[in-house]
Amino acid sequence: MKIDFANLQLQYQTYKEKIDANLQAILNKSNYILGEEVNILEQELQNFTGAKYAIACSSGTDALLLALMAMDIQPGDEIITTPFTWISTGEMIALLKATPVFVDIEPDTYNLDANLIEAAITKKTKAIMPVSLYGQPADMDAIQAIADKYNLKVIIDGAQSFGSTFNKKTDSNLGDISTTSFFPSKPLGCYGDGGAVFTNNEDYAKKIKLLRVHGQNKRYHHQYIGIGGRLDTIQAAILLAKLPHFSKELKDRQKVADQYTSGLSNILQTPVIKPNRSSAWAQYTLRVKNRDNLQLKLKENSIPTSIFYPIPLHLQQCFQYLKYKQNDFPISEKASNEVISIPMNPFLTNEQIDYIVSKIQENL
Ligand SMILES: Cc1ncc(COP(=O)(O)O)c(C=O)c1O
Repeated sequence: MKIDFANLQLQYQTYKEKIDANLQAILNKSNYILGEEVNILEQELQNFTGAKYAIACSSGTDALLLALMAMDIQPGDEIITTPFTWISTGEMIALLKATPVFVDIEPDTYNLDANLIEAAITKKTKAIMPVSLYGQPADMDAIQAIADKYNLKVIIDGAQSFGSTFNKKTDSNLGDISTTSFFPSKPLGCYGDGGAVFTNNEDYAKKIKLLRVHGQNKRYHHQYIGIGGRLDTIQAAILLAKLPHFSKELKDRQKVADQYTSGLSNILQTPVIKPNRSSAWAQYTLRVKNRDNLQLKLKENSIPTSIFYPIPLHLQQCFQYLKYKQNDFPISEKASNEVISIPMNPFLTNEQIDYIVSKIQENL
């Protein structure tokens, strides 16, 4: 049986007619950068998320950078975040010469543990940056309450969670600024790099729009130091072709997750989604002690797997200067050694899911 991890090929074949037509229209117009489709996409993203402003940009990484720059984060400012994430989260903080201050995660959701945040707050703390890992928002009520108490900003790294909800609001519509990634394998992906920044704050929205184009407010007039952070029109056109199907895809991902959970929850630790939240199911991630063995056995049965993430950020070479050491964040370190993500996409068939479940059961 052939099983794809994200199955971008079948996704393209499914939406081919509309994607091809949209691409052809761009080629005919030759309007490749920040064309009309980018504006339309931003409108559609606002409609979908409920956020007042959506600003499309060049990647999920640049979305984080734009968010931090919009808040005028300065060298020496501290941003509290999780070490159990993709590098971009801490990297963009460090790129601005601000300091990522790591706080450990909850063992069940893998998200920032709100109970540990207050102890990490100092006079230099400017913001809290939770990550909605694998697709599920963090405990945003608790995090927002701490932010309000200490007058801190909240930036949500929602790269993996477009379409997820917390208390029925999308996680693009929470915090001061929320970001996402349209990397091809993300829940809503384009066919190159892309991302977006969301906010309900008009001042941030205006500034981010300028920062995205080198801080330019009028041709050749640069109000801010910005970045080349535009989304190209072709990527917007692909996203516009896919967005109408996205709600159905989210439901299908949920069905896949439910089928996995019913087959596996009695033999190993399956994902925990809290009652007031929904996940966009960027990943379906299991927890096993003998991970290498399981990964090998699944590979022998043509089942691809991935490890998100094998090394937490505080133990990365690039962050050595922060002087963290082994055992500083035991929950994250344990998770790094035990997590394994299995194929997740809305096109998996019942037969494929049953096959994957049976091979895991056989090889645990
Ligand atoms: C948690 C997290 N943050 C940020 C990013 C960066 O997104 P991009 O690859 O679009 O730059 C990713 C992408 O994998 C991510 O998973």
